[in-house]
Amino acid sequence: MCGIVGYIGHDPAQPILLDGLDRLEYRGYDSAGIATMHRGGICLAKEKGRLANLKARLRSSPLPGCMGIGHTRWATHGEPSDLNAHPHTDMKGDIAIVHNGIIENHARLRAMLQTHGCVFVSETDTEVVAHLLNHLWDGNMLSTLQRSLAMLEGSYALAVICAAEPDTLYCTRKDSPLVIGLSNHAQYIASDIPALLAHTRQIEMLEDKEVAVLRADGVTVFDAYGTRRPLRPATVDWDVEAAEKGGYAHFMLKEIHEQPAALQKTFSTYVDTQTMALRENTLPITAEEARRLSSLTIVACGTAYHAGVVGKYAIEHLARLPVVVDVASEFRYRQPILGAGDLFLAISQSGETADTLAALREAARLGAKTMALTNVLGSSIAREVGNSALYTCAGPEIAVASTKAYITQVEVMLLLAIDLAQKRGTITRDEAAALLSALSELPAQAEALLTDEGRIARFASRYYDRRHVFYIGRGMDYALALEASLKLKEISYIMSEAYAAGELKHGTIALIEPGTLVCALLTQPRLADKTLSNIREVKSRGAKVLVVCSQSLLEKTHSVADEVWPVPDTHPLLSPLLAIIPLQLLAYHMAVSRGCDVDKPRNLAKSVTVE
Ligand code: AGP
Repeated sequence: MCGIVGYIGHDPAQPILLDGLDRLEYRGYDSAGIATMHRGGICLAKEKGRLANLKARLRSSPLPGCMGIGHTRWATHGEPSDLNAHPHTDMKGDIAIVHNGIIENHARLRAMLQTHGCVFVSETDTEVVAHLLNHLWDGNMLSTLQRSLAMLEGSYALAVICAAEPDTLYCTRKDSPLVIGLSNHAQYIASDIPALLAHTRQIEMLEDKEVAVLRADGVTVFDAYGTRRPLRPATVDWDVEAAEKGGYAHFMLKEIHEQPAALQKTFSTYVDTQTMALRENTLPITAEEARRLSSLTIVACGTAYHAGVVGKYAIEHLARLPVVVDVASEFRYRQPILGAGDLFLAISQSGETADTLAALREAARLGAKTMALTNVLGSSIAREVGNSALYTCAGPEIAVASTKAYITQVEVMLLLAIDLAQKRGTITRDEAAALLSALSELPAQAEALLTDEGRIARFASRYYDRRHVFYIGRGMDYALALEASLKLKEISYIMSEAYAAGELKHGTIALIEPGTLVCALLTQPRLADKTLSNIREVKSRGAKVLVVCSQSLLEKTHSVADEVWPVPDTHPLLSPLLAIIPLQLLAYHMAVSRGCDVDKPRNLAKSVTVE
């Protein structure tokens, strides 16, 4: 969703701001703009559409100045247009702001400000903040901003510059991401870390309602009560290359190829590879707590939800603990029944998804023990659970379609299942060691699978014009089908549906007609014969069947499949980690064959910070 950047230093701000916006492009947007400070006045440029439009305009009339703010807007209030694009200003043009989030009481504030003579030029909720700052102006932006925040309801990440203080940039946040990049002679802000990596890896995180005052030579932070607090910079170990394409045609393809390394890094973070045992205390639940648990609730959105579904199968199987998985937007409004004795886990790659954050807060309010699994150090969701944050070590994921974050989320879910099972005494030490040893082999097996890409691309070039596709499977394979189907639809715009194979004949099989592509997943030996019967049912109705199966089940598929892609054998609980790879590549090549914008699919945003 919206992306924010800011810079204050001694170099021209415009190229730094545009470079930052380039790096945030993947978040999704439909207009862009920047404002700089020059000789005590604010200069402004904004354009509807892609960043290229803004850059074209700035080429002929660049904005001068060594401090500024920039924004990519994903429309919520008001259509994408030049006028609705950020930055927004007060009527005199002396205060400019950029905003991510939603000001929920904007209508009331707008009416109040209009009675004081404010004339609005946009339909956005954001513009009220610019006018409010002018309305409450007391000669000092820090106190004006602090008093204004007290009147705002909703979520915001805000960056502010004002002509009265031409050497200072202000920013603040609540329930919306914003990080500060520190360096000796210049300071930066951005919606997320990859946009800062070209300049610094020293990151200062802001808590809700904190205000940061940035000058070229340093940053001061005031807490929600207005008291100055010491800086607590964290060093991120992501490097610039991790957030660049590195020769691949798309970020998504690069990220698919980074999966073996991401699996390896995540594994060695949680497992001592010498003793092949889980490291002590990396999973924040004691044996006593694990034994007393009555249930686990997992809440997430989209791909992260699908990782949760895999987690449910694994945890129920290994740890014999009942697990409920829910999408966050449903969980938060369904008056969930949770309390002490229940464990709650939020999964979120970005750690900023608004619905997941709200669900987590609801679970904490109800008294459950809360944990979170995220890919981003210091993200809102991670901070909400303090020491109970688990991390995937996927590195920055830029493509909107999640791949390496998913695979590492699933990996951590399996590690959590093994840990809970050991602590609850439902598996032996030897069984745990066998599973961990199988997990340790996955990076090499995943690497080998990636060499199959040519065959997958050729298959995609034959089937890319299908109007709809079905993914079917049972058990873990059903969980996998959910994710494979989402990958295809979000980047190729092909209508696709994931179905529990045994459920097909209760209605959906009516949609199968000659030539319908059905991708059947067959990695669970215990359920293979059942799924094979379902494959025969669609085959006999004319479906073209692609089977993704474990090597040991290959022979069984010959009479039913039009195409078979075997994946290496592993423990059945781990097979999603391998079988998803050809399915990600299938989605990717289908989208490329259809000429789609793979990394930035239409209507989607990487980080969904509004509900
Ligand atoms: C994944 O391909 C999607 N783009 C999307 O479903 C995503 O997983 C979802 O929005 C949740 O995001 P999060 O993991 O950052 O919370």
